[in-house]
Amino acid sequence: MAEDQPKPVGPDLGQGIALAQLPDGGKLVGHVGDDEVLLVRRGAEIFAVAAHCTHYHGPLVDGLVVGDNVRCPWHHACFDLRTGEALRAPALSPLACWTVEQQSGKIFVREKRAEKETTVRVGRSGTVPEKIVIIGGGAAGFAAAERLRRVDYQRSITMLSDDDAPPVDRPNLSKDYLAGTAPEDWVPLRPDSYYPDNAIDLRLKAHVASIDPRAREVALADGSKIPFDRLLLATGAEPVRLSIPGADQPHVHTLRSLGDCRAIIARAQTARRVVVLGASFIGLECAAALRTRGIEAHVVAPEKRPMERIMGPQMGDFIRTLHEEHGVIFHLEDTASAIDGKWVKLKSGAELEADLVIVGVGVRPRTQLAEAAGLSVDRGVVVNAYLETSAPDIFAAGDIARWPDPHSGESIRVEHWVVAERQGQTAALNMLGQREKFTSVPFFWSQHYDVPINYVGHAENWDDIAIDGDIPAKDCVLRFNRKGRTLAVASIYRDLESLEAELAMENVSA
Ligand SMILES: Cc1cc2nc3c(=O)[nH]c(=O)nc-3n(C[C@H](O)[C@H](O)[C@H](O)COP(=O)(O)OP(=O)(O)OC[C@H]3O[C@@H](n4cnc5c(N)ncnc54)[C@H](O)[C@@H]3O)c2cc1C
Ligand code: FES
Repeated sequence: MAEDQPKPVGPDLGQGIALAQLPDGGKLVGHVGDDEVLLVRRGAEIFAVAAHCTHYHGPLVDGLVVGDNVRCPWHHACFDLRTGEALRAPALSPLACWTVEQQSGKIFVREKRAEKETTVRVGRSGTVPEKIVIIGGGAAGFAAAERLRRVDYQRSITMLSDDDAPPVDRPNLSKDYLAGTAPEDWVPLRPDSYYPDNAIDLRLKAHVASIDPRAREVALADGSKIPFDRLLLATGAEPVRLSIPGADQPHVHTLRSLGDCRAIIARAQTARRVVVLGASFIGLECAAALRTRGIEAHVVAPEKRPMERIMGPQMGDFIRTLHEEHGVIFHLEDTASAIDGKWVKLKSGAELEADLVIVGVGVRPRTQLAEAAGLSVDRGVVVNAYLETSAPDIFAAGDIARWPDPHSGESIRVEHWVVAERQGQTAALNMLGQREKFTSVPFFWSQHYDVPINYVGHAENWDDIAIDGDIPAKDCVLRFNRKGRTLAVASIYRDLESLEAELAMENVSA
């Protein structure tokens, strides 16, 4: 993501620093020329890598070093300090690395090392599939294709997406891009040239109509058929649409794709007042983004507190107050009954004027293809720990997948960007015959104005919430506990604790 590079900070590492300035286990940021470089010391070894995460430029010096890896404080990407390799999404590009020398009690950072074309290679045991087909051009589908090429898979990859845009950074669509504070070139996950350059046959506006698991082929809506040796289902989720009168009018929008977002932005050019139906993450992020554009925002939702079911009452109250401080007007414990021209009618009898309506009442996993193909479906496509569906050589990842989460001990399905990407990456390796279990601790983030909320783990219910810090002061950690175990941790500006909680959860299985 493009960003103005700040002036290099810290000591000039080319000139060298005293070894004593970097104690064992320590981290330090300096510069070499215009590049900011992170130095990490582990015993006698010293690593020098780019100081900022390749996802959204998070400061790795504030992250967590675990073994030979560093984890980003913002959205928990993980990098190999030896090679710079992006080991875990959401970062997909490696960090630059520098050569380090030690002389006479000083550390010198020398030349930048050439990026290795491929730093991970998978074993070639078993048969390498000739044709891999991915249905879905979103988080999971893209991360799978990217991982396949990164591990040097050289055969055919076909990616089918019924969207008209190549894979995009979907979380941005309800945040900076919608707010008008991020340029459009932040939105694609890769430039258009990436796909031909990497021999990924990305077919847009290609709606898959059916899958034949026995014949091992998928049929497109235009009647054409595409054979596969391995298939990844990554069809994501679609917004739930309201069936109330007037919900089909042109000023009523849902938000999933870049096209949806562009349509909202076009309407926002002249809109004075938006009514957001639903106090979900996406609904509230949209309200925040449109407030940034100076549009009056009303949020209508049936619950007593926004996001209470996921974040608990204390965080729910905070989120409400935060939005109210920015001018959002809530109409809680109420729902829309009709959209009549420029008026949204509520069950309570109230009427709200709106020239833009955004429906954010949740999403439904796109499981129709899997169901019709006879795959096991239970509120999501059922997969095992290897992300295999009930049909041989067909895998599923992302918002559609219900997988056995070893941490909660439950079969869960979540709608998180990072989980979708990491599942895509694991599925990619398993399609090549690896047997890698998907064991990542679920993680998501949400951004409201200048307040990021990070959430690690998974708690559908809890006995108590232990609060450390001060929620209104935007400095807190909330631990969701059940039967004496912490199942999930939500935090605001306590990034290190969020990373430490993730690490602790990795080491505990239900
Ligand atoms: C506006 C917005 C903001 C979000 N913000 C956050 C956030 O801040 N943090 C977070 O953790 N998560 C966030 N999410 C959720 C996150 O984006 C999803 O969890 C993630 O995109 C899921 O990835 P996926 O690959 O499963 O599905 P998707 O990314 O939805 O991709 C599915 C793909 O499948 C294609 N497809 C579906 N059916 C067919 C078919 N029959 N034929 C061909 N193609 C098909 C679709 O066109 C699409 O390309 C946000 C979501 C939205 C919409
Ligand atoms: S900025 Fe590092 S993971 Fe997002």
